[in-house]
Amino acid sequence: MNSTTLIRHGPGALGLRILGLGPGFKPCNGLKQLRLLLDTYAFWAKGRSNKQIRQLLAGSTVVISLWTGKRMVGFGRATSDGIYRAVLWDIVVADDLQGLGLGRQVVEALLSSAPLKNAEKVYLMTTKSADFYLQLGFCDCINQDLLIKELRNHQ
Ligand SMILES: CC(C)(COP(=O)(O)OP(=O)(O)OC[C@H]1O[C@@H](n2cnc3c(N)ncnc32)[C@H](O)[C@@H]1OP(=O)(O)O)[C@@H](O)C(=O)NCCC(=O)NCCS
Repeated sequence: MNSTTLIRHGPGALGLRILGLGPGFKPCNGLKQLRLLLDTYAFWAKGRSNKQIRQLLAGSTVVISLWTGKRMVGFGRATSDGIYRAVLWDIVVADDLQGLGLGRQVVEALLSSAPLKNAEKVYLMTTKSADFYLQLGFCDCINQDLLIKELRNHQ
């Protein structure tokens, strides 16, 4: 595998969001690449438009992207109040590079960022990848229920 570059974006990921910047602050069509990464490998995040992805970036406290050259191969983001609660969202690695430690890099970069490191608890919701998070220090939640209120359909 070619070496990867991990980018720790600032809150709202301005360069990625507005200019599509990748490694070395070079224009990489990053927003479109992120849309395709989510569309292809993240079953819960299919069909999101560029505008919707810009908004999710703008609303994220911590954003991590992983690149080989100018190709975005991994992504993850988190929201946090910086003291009590943080949540991981949209962790994804391109199919052909899964199983090589990249997902771990993304999650560890999120967890080691100040807004998450200083939070009391980090939550995440997963449908199929609980085992991946268990070996990263997350625990099954047995004393709380996950409740959801669906507010609107974005399609
Ligand atoms: C889940 C995902 C992000 C993991 O990324 P990855 O790069 O394949 O994982 P890594 O190579 O970093 O794996 C790290 C460790 O987790 C283990 N692991 C990875 N996926 C696993 C899974 N689904 N179940 C159990 N263990 C898993 C690996 O064996 C590895 O263990 P090791 O360090 O002992 O060798 C990736 O498979 C993915 O993008 N899947 C599709 C999208 C998705 O489901 N994302 C999760 C949303 S909550």
